[in-house]
Amino acid sequence: MNTTALIGAQWGDEGKGKIIDILARKADYVVRATGGSNAGHTVVSGGNTYKLHLIPSGILYPDTFNIIGNGVVLDPKVVLEEMDALAALGVKFDKLMIDLRAHIVMPYHKEIDELSEKAKGKNAIGTTKRGIGPCYADKCDRIGIRLVDLLDPKVFAEKLKRNVDFKNKLITAVYGGEPLDFNEIYAEYCAYAKRLQPYACDTGAVLYDAIKADKRVIFEGAQGTLLDLDSGTYPFVTSSHPITGGFCAGAGVGPTAIKECIGIAKSYTTRVGAGPFPTELNDEVGAHLLNVGHEFGTTTGRARRCGWLDAVILRLAVRINGLTGLVINKLDTLTGLKKLKIATHYDYNGKLIDCFPADISMLADCKPVYEEFDGWTEDISSCKKFEELPEAAQAYIRAIERFTETPVKMIGVGADRDQNIYR
Ligand code: GDP
Ligand code: IMO
Ligand code: MG
Repeated sequence: MNTTALIGAQWGDEGKGKIIDILARKADYVVRATGGSNAGHTVVSGGNTYKLHLIPSGILYPDTFNIIGNGVVLDPKVVLEEMDALAALGVKFDKLMIDLRAHIVMPYHKEIDELSEKAKGKNAIGTTKRGIGPCYADKCDRIGIRLVDLLDPKVFAEKLKRNVDFKNKLITAVYGGEPLDFNEIYAEYCAYAKRLQPYACDTGAVLYDAIKADKRVIFEGAQGTLLDLDSGTYPFVTSSHPITGGFCAGAGVGPTAIKECIGIAKSYTTRVGAGPFPTELNDEVGAHLLNVGHEFGTTTGRARRCGWLDAVILRLAVRINGLTGLVINKLDTLTGLKKLKIATHYDYNGKLIDCFPADISMLADCKPVYEEFDGWTEDISSCKKFEELPEAAQAYIRAIERFTETPVKMIGVGADRDQNIYR
């Protein structure tokens, strides 16, 4: 079996797009299975920067099949705009497949995402306002509209009518918003359906055959472990399962179909949106990470919150994803910092904690316990071998392996496809 899952090991934006693009060079299939257009994956190749939200990051290779699985919530407007922008750059979509069971993000989902965030006031999650939570909520409530429904004008009209009537009551009576127009949405989405039809199929069945035929399959994680609906910092999470288990449900494959699970992390930690962040830095080191690391959201442009690397989080990622290895990206961003720190545990009122707590209110009183490391000043952005890294950088990577009991298999030293060290 030749299958690998790539998972965000932190709060998203770990550089998954770059790694998936690199591995996709030799892949037959790249599969997105969770999340939606809340994701923003950056691929830098040959001086061009591609920002992908719904289209899998293997799309730049003409021979690779790219699958959007049933677990993805698909915004047709976003995916078609993304395809148009990529087509203008010469990208082809003859190997793109979208699962018939994927749920469709509707205008009322985006409207409700916006309105409910506003209504939450200081308790807002800081969502991407892409309608993700409301779409998954409808899926769980069994009133969602799937691609298979959208493709049948009669079924779509019935389901849409029922939903627009109901959502308009919610939008106007609960949130004081403006009602949406059924006819407008129907016409707009029927046009999307025509364009999406050629890509629609049962992708789970395609994958089953591909895996049986020993094809190389990469599962592309979106978001990150700490944004998982169950294991993350609930309620400051996304509404899906961006963990290895999420691929089984979201791509329609069994757990035994996934051979290798690689967690992708940065050499420090970032988070977009609200919620606890034990190692957050609001000082000049935080400013260094923000500015040198260009930590601005790919989807919303928001400045990302930055802090030291947190091994408590990485251990959680190792445990719930069954990680067999780690990728540490953006080691180059640490260059120039005199001293580096990694949180190994938390101190909770004098008690040493090594497991990320379920009760996030505890986190406010959890002080990270740090181990300190020497920094380096040498430019590492063209290093190709581990031995070429300064001794201090090597020691930093070895410490991550020690704290997580997991091998670091690849190190990112720049945003380009070629700026990586393989071990
Ligand atoms: P994703 O959502 O996990 O795919 O990550 P994003 O694309 O949202 O954010 C990661 C950012 O870091 C992007 O701008 C990448 O181009 C950039 N990046 C990835 N790896 C490296 C690296 O090793 N060094 C540097 N300097 N930038 C990197
Ligand atoms: P990629 O795939 C970083 C965050 C949002 C918010 C929370 C809920 O690029 O790593 P949502 O819109 O999903 O309901 O927002 O989750 N979030 C992400 N943060 N990277 C992402 O994706 C994210 N997708 C969602 O900022 O805090
Ligand atoms: Mg991102």
